[in-house]
Amino acid sequence: ALRGVVALDGPSGTGKTTVARKLAQRLSAGYLDTGAMYRVVTLAVLRAGTDPADAGAVTEVARGAEFTIGTDPGRPSVALGGEDVSAEIRGADITHAVSPVSAVPQVRELLVARQRRIIDEVLAEVGGIVVEGRDIGTVVAPDAPLKVYLTASPEIRAARRSAQDTAAGRESSHADARASVDRRDRLDSSRAASPLRAAEDAVHLDTSELEIDQVLVALCELAGHRG
Ligand code: C5P
Repeated sequence: ALRGVVALDGPSGTGKTTVARKLAQRLSAGYLDTGAMYRVVTLAVLRAGTDPADAGAVTEVARGAEFTIGTDPGRPSVALGGEDVSAEIRGADITHAVSPVSAVPQVRELLVARQRRIIDEVLAEVGGIVVEGRDIGTVVAPDAPLKVYLTASPEIRAARRSAQDTAAGRESSHADARASVDRRDRLDSSRAASPLRAAEDAVHLDTSELEIDQVLVALCELAGHRG
């Protein structure tokens, strides 16, 4: 079983979520999807009728939002005020509003503190955790013994995002997915507060030409787990 933290960062459409969950299962570790935390706060913001661009108001909603997130890789779950919102936080309106929300420094401060608490709890309980996001290796868990930065060409990431949306019953065209991926890349990489970037000591893995299972094999090897 895995000891410690595996930090998995990178933009959307790299297969990050799928491999993070599978890796955690394979390693009998916990799993934390930090993107889901930014998404559930964004849902609370939209439900409150708050403008995602109003940093002060967004911070207030974030402070008051009562959400929970599961750390079992076999059963990821996110709830807001006791209601399961796992599917709803993947919707296009949330995906559109999440970047401005996650760019608010006070929101990041709040969520990073919570992420560190969850990581500590899971480490105490099961010894290992796979954490995925944008700033895990740089900010949330800079001491993680294994940091991986997943990439893939924007074209391929858009195709994956579009296929995912279609599979989940959401309307999606390749052009829309490409525009959405490009926009989020730009916003997430250019924000002042912990922008998306690879940690200096991260292993880079380009998944453009790889199937999920091949990515998983590569990650298992990096984690020192064979078989
Ligand atoms: O990974 P996912 O696509 O669910 O992330 C949604 C958004 O949450 C990202 O586009 C980014 O704006 C934000 N995010 C972040 N830091 C993280 C994880 C996600 O800013 N660690």
